[in-house]
This record gives sequence, structure tokens and C-alpha cells, in this order.
Amino acid sequence: MYKILKAEKLADKIYLMDVEASRIAKACQPGEFVIVRMDERGERIPLTICDYDREKGTVTIVFQIVGASTERMAGLKTGDSFIDVVGPLGNPSEFVHDNLEEVKNRKYLFVAGGVGTAPVYPQVKWLKEHGVSVDVIMGSKTKDLLILEDEMRTVAGNLYVTTDDGSYERKGMVTEVIKDLVVNQGKKYDVCVAIGPMIMMKFTCLMTKELGIPTIVSLNPVMVDGTGMCGACRVSVGGEVKFACVDGPEFDGHLVNFDEAMKRQQMYKTEEGRALLRLHE
Ligand code: NAD
Ligand code: FES
Repeated sequence: MYKILKAEKLADKIYLMDVEASRIAKACQPGEFVIVRMDERGERIPLTICDYDREKGTVTIVFQIVGASTERMAGLKTGDSFIDVVGPLGNPSEFVHDNLEEVKNRKYLFVAGGVGTAPVYPQVKWLKEHGVSVDVIMGSKTKDLLILEDEMRTVAGNLYVTTDDGSYERKGMVTEVIKDLVVNQGKKYDVCVAIGPMIMMKFTCLMTKELGIPTIVSLNPVMVDGTGMCGACRVSVGGEVKFACVDGPEFDGHLVNFDEAMKRQQMYKTEEGRALLRLHE
């Protein structure tokens, strides 16, 4: 059993939990994810690791209520437990294994959209701990939905916050901030890392392609086994079939077929769509 040591509501339908999982906390790296299960019959829910404390043996997860399972999960309190927390799964972010001197010479721009801020945080934190200062753009629909702002402020070199409705800081979408920084302010970036809703990653990639900035995205398609066996998390990258759970979750954003990924995500929302996908796997 994996005990919940902290359960906190961050915003409407968005929750944070610190979970006791010492083996995962010891081994995990930014970019990796876990699959949690509430009980024997519970759905397997993949969640990117938002933070970890190797000494306390905890991992932090952040999730949004998107259906019955996550709604039930939001009802868990401090002291409750998950029956299963499997991980760390997937591959760490590229910079973890790259030559640190090369990483230090790169100018990074991180783009965090909505709940996607949670997986961006450990990456920016890791880079700061290794002496790399990065620029971060955080976007949310409205001020009330902005999460982890204080945490991000402590690890980001420069933080640019934007809300779609202008209720806090700048008004507009993350892509408008990218354009402002690069085109108007003349900032130069070697790598962009964009994590958020699929539509945000798609439009961020269209813009960074135009601006000539290589871009990494983290995909979170529907997952079932998390081990490359079931095919549920299939995505097309550069015309090749990849499984986000074992080949990703991070990919070259300029090669991802976002339209297909979004279509599959929509289909998984209905029983009929799921049956259709199974037929074509
Ligand atoms: P959201 O809809 O509030 O969008 C966040 C920001 O993305 C917006 O504020 C905006 O700046 C930007 N954005 C949205 N549409 C855009 C467009 N067309 N062009 C340019 N920028 C755009 O985000 P949310 O409601 O928090 O998102 C939830 C979604 O994020 C879920 O579908 C969830 O699956 C996904 N998510 C993805 C990851 C991941 O690892 N990729 C992690 C957590 C959540
Ligand atoms: Fe089954 Fe990736 S979740 S192959």
C-alpha cells in the first residue's frame, strides 16, 4: 500500500498529493511518470511525477478531474492509500543524460500550459540545481486555475505568466508570449520544452518551427499497461509508430502528428470510440 501523506486542492478540479513510495522516490528523474491504482478494480491512471523527496521517500503527483476515476481519486484524504503506484516509467528528459557542460551552454525556454505546469516543474528544478537558469512561460485560462506559481518562481530564471482572459499578469495564450520574447525582444533559444494540452503543444510547435527552435513535447495519451504491450498509447512521430509509455513520453514536437493524437484522445472518451480503436489496433 502507498500512503498519502498530503492531499491538497490546488484549484478547481486540480489536486496535489504526496505519496509514500520510497523506491520510486530514490530512482526517479524529471520527465518520468507513474501509474497509480486506487483499488483492485481501479483504473490505471498515468501521472507525470511533479516532484520527489529522496530522503522522505515521497513522490508528488498532480491531477485534474477528467472522469469517474479521477473524481474518485480526488476524494482520497491524507492517511488513505493507493493499492498500486508503479514506476518510474518512461524515459527521463534528455538533459538528464546529456553532457552537463553542453546543457549549461544551451538556452532553454519552457512552456507550461495549465496542468502541464506539474511535469515542467521538476525539469526546471533539476536544471536550477545543476546550475542552469531557464526562462519559463506559464499559461492558464484564468487566475484561479494557475497552479504552482510560487514553486516555479523559486526555480525559474525568468517567469512569464499569462492568462487567456487577462485576469492575472499578461493577457493571451502562451504562443503570444513566445512570439513577444523571440520576435519583439530578440531573445534566442536553443531548445523549447512545451508541456500542456495537446492543442497548446500543437500550436507551440507550429510557432517554434517557424522560429527555428527545436522543441520537445511530453505526450500523455491514454495508457493502459504502461509497458509497451497494449498499444493504447500509440502516437505517430515522424511517420513512425511510437508508444508514449516506453518510447516517450517526450518526443521531437516538430515530428509529432498532433491531429491524429487529438483524434485518438477524443475517441477514447466514448465506449463506441474505444471499441472502434480496439478493432483497428
Ligand atoms: P488549458 O486548456 O487551461 O490550457 C493551458 C494553456 O495552454 C492556455 O492558458 C493557453 O495559454 C495554452 N493554449 C491552449 N490552447 C491553445 C492554442 N490553441 N494555442 C496556443 N496556446 C494554447 O489547460 P488545462 O485545462 O490545464 O489542460 C488540461 C489538459 O492538459 C488535459 O487534456 C490534460 O490531459 C493535459 N495535460 C497534459 C500533460 C502532458 O504531460 N502533456 C500533463 C498534464 C495535463
Ligand atoms: Fe500500453 Fe503504452 S500504455 S503500450
